[in-house]
Parts: sequence; structure tokens; C-alpha cells
Amino acid sequence: LDNGLALTPPMGWMAWQRYRCNIDCDNYPDECISENLFKRMADALVSEGYKDVGYEYVIIDDCWLENKRGANGRLEPDKKRFPNGIKALSDYVHSKGLKFGIYEDYGTKTCAGFPGVIDNMKLDAQTFAEWEVDYVKLDGCYASVFSMDEGYREFGKYLNETGRPMVYSCSLPAYQEERKMQINFTNLAEVCNLWRNYDDIDDSWYSVSTIANYFATKQDLWTQYAGPGHWNDPDMLIIGNFGLSYEQSKAQMSIWAIIAAPLIMSNNLQNMKPEFKEILQNKKILAIDQDPLGIQGRRIYVEKNIETWTRPVTPVAEDKYSYAVAFVSKRTDGRAFPYNVTLSNIGLTNPYGYKFEDLFPDDVSNSRRARILERRHFQR
Ligand code: DGJ
Repeated sequence: LDNGLALTPPMGWMAWQRYRCNIDCDNYPDECISENLFKRMADALVSEGYKDVGYEYVIIDDCWLENKRGANGRLEPDKKRFPNGIKALSDYVHSKGLKFGIYEDYGTKTCAGFPGVIDNMKLDAQTFAEWEVDYVKLDGCYASVFSMDEGYREFGKYLNETGRPMVYSCSLPAYQEERKMQINFTNLAEVCNLWRNYDDIDDSWYSVSTIANYFATKQDLWTQYAGPGHWNDPDMLIIGNFGLSYEQSKAQMSIWAIIAAPLIMSNNLQNMKPEFKEILQNKKILAIDQDPLGIQGRRIYVEKNIETWTRPVTPVAEDKYSYAVAFVSKRTDGRAFPYNVTLSNIGLTNPYGYKFEDLFPDDVSNSRRARILERRHFQR
């Protein structure tokens, strides 16, 4: 969508994967979907250094609404959990130098059963603008998949007419893909800043690798539609939760960066183990994701259950080519496995060679350390 926004994939935090539809603030005061949760996460984005490296959107997901619209037909947040209203929360997020995002659904109801926008598109777009929303995620439950191409375009038109720039995140292709429909990507790239292509992410390596694998099998079709202002979205980063090991977390971060994914975390920023925080804040990997050329990379080689993913990035010098390369092991034998690959096998054919940098440098020193220890062991 050519609205001047999302020229690189959006970065931020969103509630859904970690906090779901927990509306029980009596029993779960710290985990329930409430203004309190979003304020705390906004605080932590700043105090824990996430804002400094580029994470900027704080995004509400499902379960923020009252069960019914207000008397004047307007959307209203749950009064108990958002006692000061959405505008006050938006102001709070902005006061931290961050941007504010909200969730709605194109259909009659959100997936969790709260009011959807279908009969009130214009009013709801205006309401979001009044609340000074910067990012809208429009989900696709309780709606006909056949009317979505037109319907999402219409809602986008109303957003645009408000005059307030809002990033527009569309879920429609995920619903169409589920029905095995052919997806109109030209329409998507015109109408949306980002779009969810596939299933929801869960807190497991199985989920991360299934999504990555699906993106790889569809890459010949999908990658061409990504670029500044319009991105494929494999869903949230789950690093720092319960389901991924340290190495698996590095794998999610690396693959997401190669495929130019939006980096929307869903985790507890207030209580993050330092090694996970380090991955999420790795500036060199973030620079790959945010590369201004905006070319989505791909999985180009699979051998011995080891995948090679590459992405062309802004050249270090005019007459040179630069690439980000990720090796992702899917091996399950649980032993150290030396892997050799020639540069030409992974498409790097510059006759003068390449300068190489490992973007997880600690691990290089770790493995060097391991080798030195081993040597000492043998000398004894
Ligand atoms: C389905 C979406 O894909 C999820 O990301 C989340 O927004 C839920 N709906 C909320 O109900």
C-alpha cells in the first residue's frame, strides 16, 4: 500500500500469541487483556532497550471490546479492563515515543466473538483516527472469504479518507489460503501494508518450522509481492516464551530476517531472559530484516537436512553484491554435524570472493572456545 508507511517491515509488540483472550483480571491481573498490560509493555519497550533498536508499535489484539457497540453505534472498549478508554491508552503509548495499534475484524464478529466492522466500516475507521491509532490489524473471522478482496479494499479506503496515516495489516490471505483459493496478491499489495499468509503461530518449534517451511514451498509465488510498503507476514516472534530453545530462537530470528518479515513480538518484555533479549535486539540481524532494498529472501538449498536461506541486501560497495545467509539445521540425530557447502552451491559466484561476518559472534567464540578446550584435553 502506497501510503508512505511500512517502508521496512513494521516492528513492535502485540498481545495475542502470549496473552490470547485472557479477560479474567480478577484471577490474572498481570496477564489479562487490559490497559495495564499495554502500558507495562510500552514501558518495557523503552526501559529494556527495544525501542532503541527499532521496535515501535504497541498493538492490541482481540478481546478489547465490549460485547456490544455503544448507544451511538460506536465501538467501545471493555469498561472494566480499559477504564480510561482507548484514547488515553493511545496517548500514553505516544508519550513514550512509541506508536499505537489496534485490532478489529472484517466480519460480523471478531474471532473471539466481539463486534466486527462489516456494517460500520466508515464509522470505525473514523473512530480509530480519533483515537490516534497508527496501525490497524483487520482479522477475517465471521465473514465470507469471497467478499474479502473488495471488503478489505473498502475499509482501507475509509482509513485513507480519515487523513491519518495508519499501517494496514490484513489477514485475508490466511483465510483464503485455508480454503485453497487463489490469492489476488496484486490487490493485496495495493490495499495493505502487510498481510498474514498462513496459520497462526503457536509457542513451539513445530509451529515456527511449519510456517517457515510453508513460506519456502510458496516462495516462487510470494516473494515477488514483498517490498517497501507491502510485506508478507509469517506472524509474530515468539522468542522469550516457553516453546523455543536458545538455538531455535536464533533460527526464528534468522529466517524471519531473511524473509523480510514484520517483527512483531508477542512475549513478556518485563521478564525476559537476557539471552533471548540479546537475540531480539541483535542489531546486525535487525539490519538484515530492515534492509532498505526490501527484497524478500528464500530457502535456496536443502541438503542433509540442513537448509540454506539467502537474501540479497544493500551492497557494501557499489560494484559488490552482499547477501545474508542463514544455515538452519533440521537434523534430529543430536550430534555435532560438520557441514560444508561451497559458495557456488548457494549462488554466491563472485570470482573475487566475499568478506564474511558471523552475525551471532558469541557463538563463534563459543565454538572456538570449545575447540580450544578439546585441544587442551587431548594434550593432557
Ligand atoms: C486469528 C488471528 O490470525 C490471530 O492472529 C489473532 O488475531 C486471533 N484471530 C484473535 O482472535
